[in-house]
Amino acid sequence: MSSDNTSSDTIVQTDDGVQIRLRTPDDWHVHLRDGAVLQGVAFHTAQQFARAIIMPNLDPPITKCADADTYRQRILAALPEEISFTPLMTAYLTDAIAAAELQAGYESGIFTAAKLYPANATTNSAHGVTDIKAIYPVLEQMQKMGMPLLVHGEVTSAHIDIFDREAVFIEDVMQPLLADLPELKVVFEHITTRQAVEFVESAGTNVAATITPHHLMINRNDMFAGGIRPHLYCLPVVKRETHQRALRQAATSGNPRFFLGTDSAPHAQSDKENACGCAGIYNSPVALECYATVFEEEDALPNLQAFASENGPKFYGLPLNNSTITLARRQQTVASVIDAAGTPIVPFQADQLLKWTFLGRQ
Ligand code: NCD
Ligand code: ZN
Repeated sequence: MSSDNTSSDTIVQTDDGVQIRLRTPDDWHVHLRDGAVLQGVAFHTAQQFARAIIMPNLDPPITKCADADTYRQRILAALPEEISFTPLMTAYLTDAIAAAELQAGYESGIFTAAKLYPANATTNSAHGVTDIKAIYPVLEQMQKMGMPLLVHGEVTSAHIDIFDREAVFIEDVMQPLLADLPELKVVFEHITTRQAVEFVESAGTNVAATITPHHLMINRNDMFAGGIRPHLYCLPVVKRETHQRALRQAATSGNPRFFLGTDSAPHAQSDKENACGCAGIYNSPVALECYATVFEEEDALPNLQAFASENGPKFYGLPLNNSTITLARRQQTVASVIDAAGTPIVPFQADQLLKWTFLGRQ
């Protein structure tokens, strides 16, 4: 482990052993759901992160300012009063969404960003955009305002191999989009391929990407190790090891255009362990422990704070958090299952031993 940390004071030797201390991170991509599940999962995100970009793929999706505002209130009501947490709300783009609704939402601070789901690309995306050209007036308005577009970057055509859908999306959709709207602020969400890493590295400073803990920790072999592992199935699906390596390199490099987004996406255990299991990995109970593990393995702990707590707010034009969080270099065994207010959900790394334990926020 590198303790000759010059860029920050991330690693601290205390009487209780080695700790990681960071400016409190934010999660730039999370699914908190609604109803009872929201009651069960919101705390896990709010204890580790000061803010989070809340995905709008509810059923029905969040397309109106008024709906985003009531959802935001339900999130806050699901948390203990003493916890300080800011949900940053997003609008779900549909073919029919009006530029005026987005403008009103962005200017009033209700919407921080808007999410582009290609229709039927993933969970609750049936209302997504069928042809990006159809929403160009909306995207032009977003470019003008500097409102970030968050992109689920996969083509949806059944004839494109599922492992190629992100790479094809870059060529068929992302590059033409940025050629037409070169100033549009774009976050390429939960990237999974070397091609996406290279695309972001070579794009302008208005383009960034989030990277999940699971895409850093597993590859497609893990999804089939000894049998099919439904709890490691998410979209975009995990790829070959070479892509995992490219993601680990990008996340730990210190490049300001890559930042933390867990894509924690809880589904009931029975919906995952199913003949047609849902896509989504529930990682928020151990998100920072997982990122810390990866950064330590890559000998890059001094870059963790930039990735987790600085690159995101700088890209979004938001202030950095003032509080700090602490992780102890202490082993923990992750729970087999978490009771999310009555719904059993299997967390990422269930039953596994992790080297780091989240202690809290100061
Ligand atoms: C997400 C979900 O369940 O809402 N699933 C996933 O596999 N990541 C949707 C998404 O972000 O694609
Ligand atoms: Zn997601």
